[in-house]
Amino acid sequence: MLTYANLDVSYTDARAEITVNRPEKLNALNTATLRALRDLLAEIAANDAVRVVLLTGAGDRAFIAGADIAEMAALDAEGLHDCLLLGQGVAEALEELPQPVLAVVNGYALGGGCELMLACDVILAAETAQIGLPEVDLAVIPGWGGTQRLPRRVGTARALELILTGARVPALEALRLGLVDRVVPPERLLEGARALADVMARKPPAALRAAKRAVRAAERLSLAEGLRRERQAFTALFEMPERAAAMARFLRKG
Ligand code: COA
Repeated sequence: MLTYANLDVSYTDARAEITVNRPEKLNALNTATLRALRDLLAEIAANDAVRVVLLTGAGDRAFIAGADIAEMAALDAEGLHDCLLLGQGVAEALEELPQPVLAVVNGYALGGGCELMLACDVILAAETAQIGLPEVDLAVIPGWGGTQRLPRRVGTARALELILTGARVPALEALRLGLVDRVVPPERLLEGARALADVMARKPPAALRAAKRAVRAAERLSLAEGLRRERQAFTALFEMPERAAAMARFLRKG
């Protein structure tokens, strides 16, 4: 199996579980880790045995405490350009992965950590998690998609308040804001995420992928174009043997 800098990956029961493993730095993402994550996501995208992906952080303190500030502080203009493109690219890769991705937010999700979280399809957080985009405190702004995905998730006003104050929001407040989807006790987080992943993993894979693709497309297409693609995807699924079998199973029960 390939190894990836500061990342653990395990493949069990159709799930790929990715753990950012740099707990001594609260799983802050340096370039080596980001590149590894990009490569790993490309590998997972091509692996049909993987039905659902989980992304979490090692230890009980942090999901990901952001970009590695020590590394970033020393970047020159070209390095910065690469860093922004790389971080944005990893967020896009999560969003565009054919399989659903669950963010399993086990602690701090700050800056770039929050931005990668926002690119996941469902966000589960431990009661102890804290989430925020504190970049303005470093005299910059979110640069891995936060200014674009946060308003899409929570609305412009709430996104502006969070980004302009750099506030760290506790999990229950994040749930109220719609920043995360579920909050669970920390000791039940992984188990809860796996249970949700397993529900999805048992669905017919082509339907699962088409559903993610269609909903994701709604963020960037006109309603008319989105509806056209929905019909197209539905029609393609309708022609598959899994569809006939699934409908026949339902009808036999009736
Ligand atoms: N980049 C680089 N190193 C980081 C980091 C980051 N984003 N976040 C934490 N670390 C490192 C700390 O430097 C420290 O390393 P050290 O032990 O070698 O000094 C270690 O992780 C533990 O962090 P520490 O700050 O000592 O823990 P804390 O409990 O006092 O505070 C946080 C926790 C999350 C509040 C604090 O680490 C923090 O604010 N981190 C930066 C968050 C941020 O601004 N992210 C956006 C970046 S664009």
